[in-house]
Amino acid sequence: MTPSDLIASLHWRYATKSFDASRKIPADVWAALEQSLILTPSSFGLQPWNFIVVTEPAVKAQLSAVSWNQPQPTDCSHHVVFAARKTMDDAEVDRFLASTVAARGGKVEDLAAYRGIMTGFVANAAKQGWLGEWAVRQTYIAIGQFMASCAVLGVDACPMEGIAPPEYDRILGLTDSDYRTVVACAAGYRAEGDKYATLAKVRYAASDVIQRV
Ligand SMILES: Cc1cc2nc3c(=O)[nH]c(=O)nc-3n(C[C@H](O)[C@H](O)[C@H](O)COP(=O)(O)O)c2cc1C
Repeated sequence: MTPSDLIASLHWRYATKSFDASRKIPADVWAALEQSLILTPSSFGLQPWNFIVVTEPAVKAQLSAVSWNQPQPTDCSHHVVFAARKTMDDAEVDRFLASTVAARGGKVEDLAAYRGIMTGFVANAAKQGWLGEWAVRQTYIAIGQFMASCAVLGVDACPMEGIAPPEYDRILGLTDSDYRTVVACAAGYRAEGDKYATLAKVRYAASDVIQRV
């Protein structure tokens, strides 16, 4: 991919208002997009999230009803719900360390110092009341990576904050789980005639948002 290919993809993407409900994302393309979710980086690598991929028509329709009645969840191919961990504890840090050893070898005991940094971070964040917000921030990295990946692969997407998270939690069975809905992203293919597809991008000039030092 050349730099101009990247810019072309980022211009091609837009927040899709109207999806072609008859078009589904092929399995191999979806598999890559799922990897883009899994490969999202997070602070310390702790991955405080779950991604709920909704393709069941009845559930998608229910989600549209609690998304300000926006049609995207119903008409898209895959509706992804980004859920953040509500809490974290030492056990979650240990789960991550076990996963690190499984991937890279070595012994958990050798990671004791790193463990101490992470458990200290988590305990401090919990004490100061921003652990939940920290987890939410991590999920936004995932939706950003997901949207960019969609654009590169020619898949349309609509990030969605116009949703009722508690209702999503109820419908998806998250209410009593360790996770809560933060944001969603509908993915699929634009309907012909979605007028938003051809609107000019509205972005501040580089001189307004980029400072060169
Ligand atoms: C976090 C987030 C939430 C958004 N929520 C909605 C939404 O609920 N419905 C919608 O139609 N667009 C939504 N948008 C789309 C924005 O309005 C859109 O990205 C912005 O106007 C820039 O336009 P563009 O993405 O087409 O370039 C959201 C965008 C982001 C990043």
